[in-house]
Amino acid sequence: MKKLFVTGMILALFVSYGYAEMGGMQEGMGHGHEMMGNQKSRIAKGRELYHKHCSVCHGENAVGQDPGHPMGGPGPEGKIIAPALNGSGHAWHHSTEGLFNDIKEGSDEKDSSMPAFAKILSDEEIHLIIDYFQSLWPEKLKRRHPGH
Ligand code: HEC
Repeated sequence: MKKLFVTGMILALFVSYGYAEMGGMQEGMGHGHEMMGNQKSRIAKGRELYHKHCSVCHGENAVGQDPGHPMGGPGPEGKIIAPALNGSGHAWHHSTEGLFNDIKEGSDEKDSSMPAFAKILSDEEIHLIIDYFQSLWPEKLKRRHPGH
């Protein structure tokens, strides 16, 4: 009788463990799905913020102030042209952290109009904007930025 009880306990343990595993897996899968949905809404929010704060200089869809000069560089009046952020400029040479700092602290070039956004945007909003313009990068470049 005692033996039967022990076997029963072990079985019960196995069954509940199995359930927990399945539950965990389903949760994991649900999470993955949510992440994808999340990424889409992050990009949408980032796009909105981009158009509000950045497109005046970096152009519609991040093609740069002068799409003929996606790398930026000195402009006609000595002012630096805002480079493309869409992957045709050289923003993708920077790590995500580097981009974050560029945006938060602004440019230290003296002829640059790139403002510091530390007081205007939250860290999270800056990340949303980065997610947006990185989403415009060709797959090849995205792979150089694992995690994005
Ligand atoms: C008033 C014009 C202006 C606005 C507004 C502006 N930028 Fe810039 N940005 C520039 C210029 C000019 C440069 C080039 C600066 C340099 O080379 O020092 C630049 C450079 C950058 C760089 C570095 C790119 C590279 O290839 O090195 C990033 C990233 C960037 N801006 C992101 C943003 C984001 C994101 C916003 C909006 C939140 C924004 N900028 C708003 C003018 C602007």
